[in-house]
Amino acid sequence: MTIHDREGTPVERKIIRFEHGSDSADKGEYRHFMLKEIYEQPRVIKATMEGRITDNRVLEQALGTDAANLLQDVNHVQIIACGTSYHAGMVARYWIEELAGVACSVEVASEFRYRKHVIQRDTLFLCISQSGETADTLAALRQAKQAGFRAALAICNVPGSSLVRESDLVIMTQAGPEIGVASTKAFTTQLTALLIFTLALARHNGLTEEREAEIVKAIHQLPGQVDQVLALDADIAEMSKAFMDKNHSLFLGRGSQFPVALEGALKLKEISYIHAEAYPAGELKHGPLALVDSEMPVVTVAPNNTLVEKLKSNLEEVRARGGELFVFADSAAGVKAEEGIHVMPLPSVHEITAPIVYTVPLQLLSYHVAVLKGTDVDQPRNLAKSVTVE
Ligand code: M6R
Repeated sequence: MTIHDREGTPVERKIIRFEHGSDSADKGEYRHFMLKEIYEQPRVIKATMEGRITDNRVLEQALGTDAANLLQDVNHVQIIACGTSYHAGMVARYWIEELAGVACSVEVASEFRYRKHVIQRDTLFLCISQSGETADTLAALRQAKQAGFRAALAICNVPGSSLVRESDLVIMTQAGPEIGVASTKAFTTQLTALLIFTLALARHNGLTEEREAEIVKAIHQLPGQVDQVLALDADIAEMSKAFMDKNHSLFLGRGSQFPVALEGALKLKEISYIHAEAYPAGELKHGPLALVDSEMPVVTVAPNNTLVEKLKSNLEEVRARGGELFVFADSAAGVKAEEGIHVMPLPSVHEITAPIVYTVPLQLLSYHVAVLKGTDVDQPRNLAKSVTVE
C-alpha cells in the first residue's frame, strides 16, 4: 500500500498497531454484533472505570496531568454531540448540575455549529463521540477553538481519531471497537466516563468526601448490576413479541431517565423501523396523550427515585386511555403488574447510576423486536456507523 499527498507525491506515514485483538471483529457465539456488544457491557464498563477510581475516590490525575488545574476554573460546561452520544450528554447535564452545581448546556452539533452563541466565562467545551470522526461534532469543535472556550475535552472511543488529536484533554472510553451501527456499549461507557468526570469537577465545587465515596461505590456495583439485567434477556425477548405488529410506540422517563427513554426510542426506530418517540412523562398531558390507545405500546423506565410517584400518576393517565404499558421498574417502586401493565423487575440501584443500568433492558428490547421483524440488525437501512459527511 502506498500513500500519496494531495499533489500525488508518495509520503511515509507512521504505522499504528491495532491493539484490540481479532475477537472484536468476530461475532463469536452471538448471532449479531449488537447482541455481543450488549453482553460486553459489564466488562467494558469495568475497563472504563479502571485506573480512574479507587474504592472511594476519583483519581483526578488519571483524567490528564492538567485536569486539576483546568477543572478548578470551570464555571460552565457546553456539551456537543450527535445521536446516542448526545443522549449521554443529556444524562451528564443532570449529573453536572446536581453534583457539581456547575451550569451545563447540551446541544446537538449540527445545530450548534450553525448559530451564534454567547460563551460564558470559563466554559469547558465537551465533545462526546464514539468514533471521533463525526463531521458535525468535529466542525463544532473547530469553531469552538476559535471562539474563546476555556478548553476542549473529548470523551471518545477511538484512539488517534480526529477528535482525540484536536482536543486539549481526552477521556478515552474503553468499549473496544463497536461494529453494530446501533450504539450500545459505547453509550454506557460514555456515561461511566462522564460520571467520573463529573465527580472530579464536583470535588472543586463542594462535593463532600462522603458523597463522592457513596457514588464511587455505586459505580463499582455497575458491572454486577448490568449482569443482573442481562439475566433477564429471555423474559425481555418474550416481552418483545408484543411490539412485532405495532407501527408506533412511546417511551417515557422523568429526570435523568428521560434521556434513557430517548435512547431507548432511538434504538427501536433504528433497528426495528418502528416509529418511536420519547417524552418526559410530565409532558404527556400537553399533547402526546392524544395518541394513546390500545395500539400504542408505552415503554417506561421506573427506578425507585424521588420522581417515581409522579411517574406513576403519568402511567395511570396512559392506562385510563387504554394504552398498554411495559414498565422496567425497581420492585421497590411499587408498580404492580395487572391487565395492560407488564412489569419487568430490575435490580435496586443508586439514583445517580440508574441511567446506566436502565439503558440495558431497552437495548435488549429493541434487539429482540428487530430479530423478530427480520431486519438487518447490525447494518440497518440508510444508516452508516460513522457519519463523516454533513
Ligand atoms: O461516533 P459518534 O458517537 O459521534 O456518532 C454519533 C451518532 O451518529 C451515533 O451515536 C448514532 O446516533 C448511532 N447510530 C446511534 O445508535
